[in-house]
Amino acid sequence: MTGRVGASTLIGVQTPPPGSRRPAYHFTPARNWLNDPNGLVHHDGEYHLFFQYNPDGESWGNMSWGHAVSPDLVRWDELPLAISHDAVESVFSGSAVLDRANTSGLGTADAPAMVAIYTSAYLADGRQAQSLAFSTDRGRTWTKYADNPVLDIGSTDFRDPKVQWFEPTRSWLMAVARSTEHRIAFYSSPNLKDWALLSEFGPRGASGGVWECPDLFALRVDDDGPLRWVLVVSIEAGGVAGGSATQYFLGDFDGTSFVADDESSMTTPRWLDHGKDCYAAVSWEDDPAGRHLIGWMSNWQYARSVPTEPWRGAMTTPRRVSLRTVGDEVHLVQQPVDALAGLAGPAVGARVALDPVQVTGAGAAPASPLPRATAYALEAVIDPGDAERVGFLVHVGDGEATRIGYDTARASMFVDRTRSGNVAFSADFAGVQHAPLGLHRGRIRLQILVDRTSVEVFGGIGEVVITDQVFPGPTSDGLEMFSEGGTATFESVTVRTLAPHPG
Ligand code: FRU
Repeated sequence: MTGRVGASTLIGVQTPPPGSRRPAYHFTPARNWLNDPNGLVHHDGEYHLFFQYNPDGESWGNMSWGHAVSPDLVRWDELPLAISHDAVESVFSGSAVLDRANTSGLGTADAPAMVAIYTSAYLADGRQAQSLAFSTDRGRTWTKYADNPVLDIGSTDFRDPKVQWFEPTRSWLMAVARSTEHRIAFYSSPNLKDWALLSEFGPRGASGGVWECPDLFALRVDDDGPLRWVLVVSIEAGGVAGGSATQYFLGDFDGTSFVADDESSMTTPRWLDHGKDCYAAVSWEDDPAGRHLIGWMSNWQYARSVPTEPWRGAMTTPRRVSLRTVGDEVHLVQQPVDALAGLAGPAVGARVALDPVQVTGAGAAPASPLPRATAYALEAVIDPGDAERVGFLVHVGDGEATRIGYDTARASMFVDRTRSGNVAFSADFAGVQHAPLGLHRGRIRLQILVDRTSVEVFGGIGEVVITDQVFPGPTSDGLEMFSEGGTATFESVTVRTLAPHPG
């Protein structure tokens, strides 16, 4: 494809240089700094992933929108810089829509514009206001709108607009953060240029840090049940595992206001992810395959010092989201995007399925060899028996491993990255993350996505997720089972590698 920045961004299909820590199937830019996903929209057979990007270096600054496209949310091609910072403004987070009816007049009826709605962070006075840029060539080249900004309330903490077409009122709907006030404001517009305030929501749930990067979408409970609205809000600090995290509220949106259900109360936040590395998660507009979210796989506590180069920053695996009743509660449930399964073609995939095996203590049963790998999907059903803790050691190497498992006394799944490799770059990095998870018919179901610098653990049907970065040594490719304090039965274990060895 013309304009591709680096072949290394065509992921999952080539052998990395020895010792490389570049993820095999998570999006990273060929070089330089990346943070939040921006401008997520599907158009003309392509998923667009724009992202907060520093075109000039590996630390945060010169904020602009980088760009990548994918047919399936897994194979990404990085394209040239989309929207650049300039002498007047940094280009902060935001969203993109297809203006099919040319309401903005920025395209034509025949060639509708892709319109990006981003936050102008003005260098002169720190003001944050919402601005437009548009493209009439499938997002390849962009022009900033001449009359920017389109929404300015004179605030220095007003950012990250997420815009969608709201059919009942045939108008555009924006959710945008009033960050330091812990509020999400909703605005309406007929043309993307003139915006009127509808309502505000918050403070509520978790507000230990500023609110950023909202998203709002509707899903039916259990596919054909009532329509409920999900409001996603990231908090920069004070998250469930320390530092940045993404929470969500369930409720109703009547075209004017979002009203949270009682159960998503003032005091008990619902966490989209219980790990330390899923921030600013937002979803694609116009997605033909349901609703998918992606997050920035980092945490403001240590994002600036993660040990990778010549890039810094990666995205999570995209997740398909749905609302499901689990027990007597409705949860936002996440599953890895379907196309990930397609990565394991004959050339790159190996599949190992174990017969049921009882484990006491550490180590894989000799009759059931587990592959050595650093990029794979593992699925397991475990009867914990009388074990206190049971699970897997991944990225096992000399004196190091990442522990992923279930703690029966705490009724929680966990990721322990205390001795996962390089943890020394930040005092906030090493640690154990927990997520509450009930047994289902006495069993635990875990789905684990391992890549060279991350683990993502989906518990049960995906009602809880833990996403954590890890930085193991390049030869730490072991995989083992463990059971502490008793004997557990691993009823099924399936491992599918997602890149060639030593991937
Ligand atoms: C979230 C965030 C956004 C802002 C962007 C700047 O990580 O702080 O609120 O728009 O990053 O890069």
